[in-house]
Amino acid sequence: MAETKATLSIDGKVIADLPIHSGSAGLDVIDIRTLGSHGYFTYDPGFLATASCESAITYIDGDKGILQHRGYAIDDLAKKADYLEVCYILLNGQAPTLEQYDEFKATINNHTMVHEKLVHFFHGFLPDAHPMAMVCAVVGALSSFYHSDLDIDDPKQRMRSAHRLIAKMPTIAAMSYKYSIGQPFVYPRNDLSYAENFLHMMFSVPAEKYIVNPTIAKAMDRIFTLHADHEQNASTSTVRLAGSSGANPYACIAAGVASLWGPAHGGANEACLTMLEEIGTVDRIAEFVAKAKDKNDPFRLMGFGHRVYKNFDPRATVMRETCHDVLKELNIQDPLLDIAMELERIALEDEYFVSKKLYPNVDFYSGIILKAIGIPSSMFTVIFAMSRTVGWISHWDEMLSQPGQKIGRPRQKYTGEIDREFVPLKVK
Ligand code: ACO
Repeated sequence: MAETKATLSIDGKVIADLPIHSGSAGLDVIDIRTLGSHGYFTYDPGFLATASCESAITYIDGDKGILQHRGYAIDDLAKKADYLEVCYILLNGQAPTLEQYDEFKATINNHTMVHEKLVHFFHGFLPDAHPMAMVCAVVGALSSFYHSDLDIDDPKQRMRSAHRLIAKMPTIAAMSYKYSIGQPFVYPRNDLSYAENFLHMMFSVPAEKYIVNPTIAKAMDRIFTLHADHEQNASTSTVRLAGSSGANPYACIAAGVASLWGPAHGGANEACLTMLEEIGTVDRIAEFVAKAKDKNDPFRLMGFGHRVYKNFDPRATVMRETCHDVLKELNIQDPLLDIAMELERIALEDEYFVSKKLYPNVDFYSGIILKAIGIPSSMFTVIFAMSRTVGWISHWDEMLSQPGQKIGRPRQKYTGEIDREFVPLKVK
């Protein structure tokens, strides 16, 4: 079959015939790689219409509310698999057999502890340091432990880095919390599940026995699963861009943590809780909804809207169920949770939010669950980062396994001064 081409013409003159490629699903892409040789670049700030890579990990159709990892629907994974199964799927391309799952779990367990020298890094932070700042720095510091003998061209070594990161992120995340509240670090326990172990490192203290509530462990596992990967979002693209230069994987993941931190991305769940605190009481919701609708006011309802999902976010649907289950099970009376539930009701009915397709997103519900579990809002994005680490490292590994991979280097539309005469301050 002849290759389909897109013809670019300017003022009626044909400039280039550009090949069109099809993936296994989703929109076709116009291959513009040769455009520069015809004297043009494309202009796409925010990458609204640019596919930056080829990937076989995650498929999203935002209009239809589809999210699949390696072809498996997210709601199936959230309901039928545990987080470590999802990690295996993302890294290896298909669901594990029971034997492969057990082996994978044992491998992850084998790497949960961190080098004692890494623990010392925490003591350099001020006690009120934001946990994301600590995690960003400490994950970056992991690169100093695994660098000189790391060959990123060897798939086995890349996989070992992935296993280490998945295993150590909960330990580092929990340490950042323990440090911020002045409690001793709690070391991992390999007899517990991934989610149970994280809760144990977060909430147990040497003085008392801690028993993990199974409903909370299940909700936690679901939060991890629903944040595991999301295609070429800002932080994943950051990891790919950093990794495209051949940088150390732990440093690349630290770059991902930094990118995730912002309130328009992973910081939304913390920002959402801050907003609920600012609203304070249910009777003030209308005032804040009016502010969000006012074009002259920069205020936005945090936890609402998504760049890709314009009908519904399939993760939010599952997270909503879990959220209501957790609130019911724990029977918590918290005015902030009442505000959240009322805000959800209003936004789902209000003409402004409905017409602009601004639905509560996954972070709206995960924020509420985490709050109900007793996790402080400053830890919300940290939990997102530890869940997303598997996605970041899977993309990094995929990129490095692709032949002919190039360093990421976008172009620009230059709007600054040109050809100015420099007048020296002093004659040397
Ligand atoms: N509250 C009020 N109005 C909003 C909101 C909101 N949360 N989000 C978007 N809008 C409005 C915009 O003002 C704009 O209105 P206009 O058409 O009259 O100019 C319109 O909806 C479209 O908004 P954009 O910013 O163009 O949408 P975009 O797709 O670029 O942004 C984003 C998506 C960044 C998520 C945005 O909805 C937002 O800021 N939401 C709040 C932050 C948040 O919850 N982020 C988490 C995302 S999920 C995640 O990262 C896992």
